[in-house]
Amino acid sequence: MPLKLIREDITKLTCDAIVNAANSTFLGGGGVDGAIHEAAGNELLLECEKLGGCKTGEAKITTGYKIPSKFVIPTVGPRWEGGYNGEEELLRSCYRKALAIAKENEFESIAFPLISSGVYGYPKDQALKVAVDEITTFLIENDMLVYLVIYDKSAYQISKKLFDDIAAFIEDKYVDDHFGFNYRNRASKESAVLGALECEPFDSDAFTGKTQVLKPLQASKKKKSSLDDALKDIDESFSEMLLRKIDEKGMTDAECYKKANIDRKLFSKIRSDRLYKPSKMTALAFAIALELPLTETKDMLMKAGFALSHSNKFDIIIEYFITNGNYDIFEINEALFAFDQALLGV
Ligand code: APR
Repeated sequence: MPLKLIREDITKLTCDAIVNAANSTFLGGGGVDGAIHEAAGNELLLECEKLGGCKTGEAKITTGYKIPSKFVIPTVGPRWEGGYNGEEELLRSCYRKALAIAKENEFESIAFPLISSGVYGYPKDQALKVAVDEITTFLIENDMLVYLVIYDKSAYQISKKLFDDIAAFIEDKYVDDHFGFNYRNRASKESAVLGALECEPFDSDAFTGKTQVLKPLQASKKKKSSLDDALKDIDESFSEMLLRKIDEKGMTDAECYKKANIDRKLFSKIRSDRLYKPSKMTALAFAIALELPLTETKDMLMKAGFALSHSNKFDIIIEYFITNGNYDIFEINEALFAFDQALLGV
């Protein structure tokens, strides 16, 4: 995934460069600026003194000294003054200038903090949207690994209603690994067991709840026929299904893998090897980019050897969004972040 959203201390990352949300003097301060100067050591300050700072929206480059990354790209974000003084354009300029410096130096990786979203008061969710937008636009034409470091949770402002909706959805679907039940009510116990056992309805009187006398029935005609159907499809590989779906959606390959935030090299590997088996994240990213309904998403995952599991919150949240027809990667990540789950692509 060319853009990775991560929760990390940027001074600990090993990239070609990390970006510093500095002030116009470059002489250090609090927040990430203070953390970088402290980690890099005094030599960084000495070099910055010679640079003479820069204007808001501009960026320069220094050596990284004691931090694991080779270089630091100090940039000066705008102070938030209500949003009517060109703050957004200046913030966009910070990302563009830093990325341009990385490109000039042929860097393969770079990490950004959420510029201006701390001391400078830029609303974090808007700062995040600007960052993701500028970085993904750059990645359409350029190959680089970009980390966007989300240092604190408040960057994602998930609405209370959405949070409660998803929590209820998880509650309904979530079973633990060993036929655990969500004991809210008997109906969900049965659905949890049926879900886990992939069985048809069974004689519920036999279900005592204590000595669970469960007689998993023979797979029904319906299940058998769908197994036959599945076996019939076995000759269509993941790669073939993906390319077929891209055509059916009228998308170009590039539109699809960019929307899925999959880099070009990985896509060409999938395209050229009909038996290529992608990771679950990659398969899911394509399903979301193609806006597949749940059944087709499950088919595509199955081709890669995976399933959506009800004992995995990440999967349940993905299922929630697909069930609700919401394929906005940004909103999906807001929810995943709010539930402390790994983030999907961008
Ligand atoms: N790693 C990653 N991100 C961090 C770290 C860290 N070690 N420390 C802070 N952050 C995050 C903050 O949570 C915030 O989301 O960096 C983002 C930017 O916040 P600030 O560092 O406060 O930067 P900014 O809002 O751009 O204000 C710049 O603050 O520190 C002074 O000298 C700096 O005057 C300048 C102003």
